[in-house]
Formats: sequence, C-alpha cells, structure tokens
Amino acid sequence: MKNFVLFGLPGAGKGTQAALIAKKYNFVHISTGDLLRKEIKNESEIGLRAKVLIEKGNLVDDSMVFEILKNELIQNNDAKGFIYDGFPRTLKQAEDLDILLTSLNRRVDAVICLKLSEEVIIERIRKRAQIEGRADDASVDIIKKRIANYHTLTEPIREYYRAQEKYFTVNGNTSIEIGFADLCEIIDKY
Ligand code: AP5
Ligand code: MG
Repeated sequence: MKNFVLFGLPGAGKGTQAALIAKKYNFVHISTGDLLRKEIKNESEIGLRAKVLIEKGNLVDDSMVFEILKNELIQNNDAKGFIYDGFPRTLKQAEDLDILLTSLNRRVDAVICLKLSEEVIIERIRKRAQIEGRADDASVDIIKKRIANYHTLTEPIREYYRAQEKYFTVNGNTSIEIGFADLCEIIDKY
C-alpha cells in the first residue's frame, strides 16, 4: 500500500492534483481540509471547534486532525494507496503519521511539493472564492494568515522528509495537465 503526500502553500493546487492522482492510481484521496469542512457542515463537536480556527486562517489542533485522519485510514484499510492533501501540516503530524504507518507495516513513500509564488496563489484563491465561497478564502488578510502559518508551522516538515530522502518538488505554476504529468513521473517510480 503506497502513501504519497502532496505539499505546498494554500491554493497551490493540492486538492486539484490529488483528485486526479486518486482517479488515475485508484488511491484514496485524504484531504484533511475537506474532512474538517464536512465536520463543520455536520455541526459535530470537532466541526464546531474547527470552524472558529479555520475561519481565522489558523490551523486546527493536531490531536483533532489526527483523530479524523486515523478514522479515514481505518475505514479504507483495504485501499491500494493513499494520497494525502493538506496533511501532515506540522512536524508533530508528520511524526505521528510515521508512528501510525510503521505500526501498520507501511511507510510514507514520497512527499511532493507544488512550488509557486505567493502572488499566483493569492490570485487563484481569490478566483476560487467567487465560485466555492469558502470562509477562509473570503479576505486577503485571512489568506495571508494561512500563508504565514504555512511558513512557520508547515515548512519545517520539508527538512524532516528531506532527511529521509523522500522530498521532491514540481513546478506548480504550469497548467493542471503539465503539473499532473510531472507528479505522475515521480509516482510512477514507486
Ligand atoms: P485546506 O483545505 O487543506 O486548505 P489549504 O491548504 O489552504 O489549501 P487549499 O485547499 O486552499 O488549496 P489547494 O492547494 O488544495 O489548491 P486547489 O487545488 O484548491 O485547509 C483549510 C484549513 O483547514 C486550514 O487552513 C486549517 O485551518 C485546516 N486544516 C486542514 N488540514 C489541517 C491539518 N492537517 N492540520 C491542521 N489544520 C488543518 O487550487 C486552488 C485554486 O486554483 C482552485 O480554484 C483550482 O481550480 C485552481 N488551480 C489549481 N491548479 C491550477 C493550475 N495549474 N492553474 C490554474 N489554476 C489552478
Ligand atoms: Mg484543497
């Protein structure tokens, strides 16, 4: 069972590419952002707590996210593989994922970062805001907060996976098709 992680700034195209990868390779797409938005919609206990944090552009607590993640892994125990989108997002989450996967005799195979400039992603998110109406896309201030949180809390993961020789980058500032082909080239090596 393969485990690939898509990494990158908010709006980098993780969700778009993870959906294509899941379809092509018959993997389960795990987006912790989508799962949290589902909890919010259902007004669950986790959802109510997450809503306040997400709407301000802050990360949700590691323990809450990991609980949701674990449930998804258990429910899809017979999956051919997983493509993670927006997870892990802190060093603690990366370490916990390794512990969990090791206990299941599995591993993270590769972590692939979609690289592109902040100007482009802000423009993409602003465009998406008009279509999807996500609360955390509503203002440039919130988007900038998400970007700042990415730099301080998420980026340290890069070194964690680099040290394990599992870290790759692709150019995110291309068409969806070219980005997808570049990602597949890496995944196909596994
Ligand atoms: P999450 O839902 O993960 O949001 P994000 O990381 O901010 O990323 P986005 O979903 O905004 O962007 P994306 O990279 O998926 O890009 P997309 O494909 O949509 O998380 C939301 C919040 O939930 C977090 O802020 C946090 O509070 C909480 N959370 C989630 N996971 C957590 C975790 N693990 N721990 C703690 N908290 C967590 O593309 C963006 C737009 O661009 C789309 O409109 C798309 O159509 C378009 N687009 C994509 N590719 C291209 C292209 N090549 N060319 C032109 N347009 C493109
Ligand atoms: Mg997304």
